[in-house]
Amino acid sequence: MPVTPVEKIWMDGELVAWEDAKIHVLTHALHYGTGVFEGVRAYETRRGPAVFRLEDHVRRLFRSAHIYQIEIPYAPDEISEAIKDTVRANGLRSCYIRPLVFRGYGEMGLNPLLAPVNVAIAVWAWGAYLGEEGLENGVRAKVSSWKRNDHNMLPPFAKATGQYINSGLAKVEALKGGYDEAIMLNVHGYVTDGSGENVFIVKDGALFTPPLSAGCLDGITRDSVITIARDLGYEVFGINLPGCGDTARTRRTPPPVSSSPRSPSSSDYSCRIFLCNGLIQNSINRRAVKYDDELGVRHRNIRAASAFIPSRPYSTPALTPLVCRRGG
Ligand SMILES: Cc1ncc(COP(=O)(O)O)c(C=O)c1O
Repeated sequence: MPVTPVEKIWMDGELVAWEDAKIHVLTHALHYGTGVFEGVRAYETRRGPAVFRLEDHVRRLFRSAHIYQIEIPYAPDEISEAIKDTVRANGLRSCYIRPLVFRGYGEMGLNPLLAPVNVAIAVWAWGAYLGEEGLENGVRAKVSSWKRNDHNMLPPFAKATGQYINSGLAKVEALKGGYDEAIMLNVHGYVTDGSGENVFIVKDGALFTPPLSAGCLDGITRDSVITIARDLGYEVFGINLPGCGDTARTRRTPPPVSSSPRSPSSSDYSCRIFLCNGLIQNSINRRAVKYDDELGVRHRNIRAASAFIPSRPYSTPALTPLVCRRGG
């Protein structure tokens, strides 16, 4: 996906011109993958761009950094403010946001602890991750021959730059095989996630998703889907899903609700598979933001759009407590 430049990037405490956001070729993270990052979205609303669950993304960024013993030289609030400043400075109505914390220049070798820590925040316009057409009609996904990194190899809870080589192998295999996306299994043969998305199966009116113990990322959209589905009265099961075959068609349209959910088995995939992440622009994200901005309705446990970014900051908090809406 080509990147369209905007004006400013936040680097180590200041907004610099896009073309000046440069690093040395001996940057540690470039060689050893020693960085952590987030993928966040700001959606267009009548009150300005609204960042989807900003605090949760920042919390996960700090958690990833903690796992890799990277000390971020800013407080979470400062990173949140810097993210808002960067969106504001670039005047985009909606955008993708990429906060990145990485080991910088000055040390080489496999001990990362001595290398300095740098922080950058970039924003740019990025449409639906798997395309608008994919949102409407589904994408073709291939069960990858590459296994997701196991907990004992690389911690799947951390969103580290180096870990995405694993996803990249699966993605390329899928694309070269004529598919749009890869679905990954763990070393035990159970589904973990997509190359960059969490996976849900809708079967008999219930939702099934791999548990975190399977080795998927603790996705913020996954959490939103679970919370909203439960608020709406659907049952959601975190269970191990056996991998089967090598192709599945993922669709967006929810199936009709029926009773007696039972967990899917590998011989029983007459169900719908959904991929979700903050980048896809799932209808769930759009809907949550729409509720937040336009209908004033929010789901119980989700701060749907946790930061509105008007050109001038509001003097009072932009959000009110969450409201549960059942069956709607
Ligand atoms: C491997 C993987 N799984 C799941 C997700 C979904 O996470 P989120 O909903 O927080 O974007 C991502 C997001 O980038 C991912 O890279």
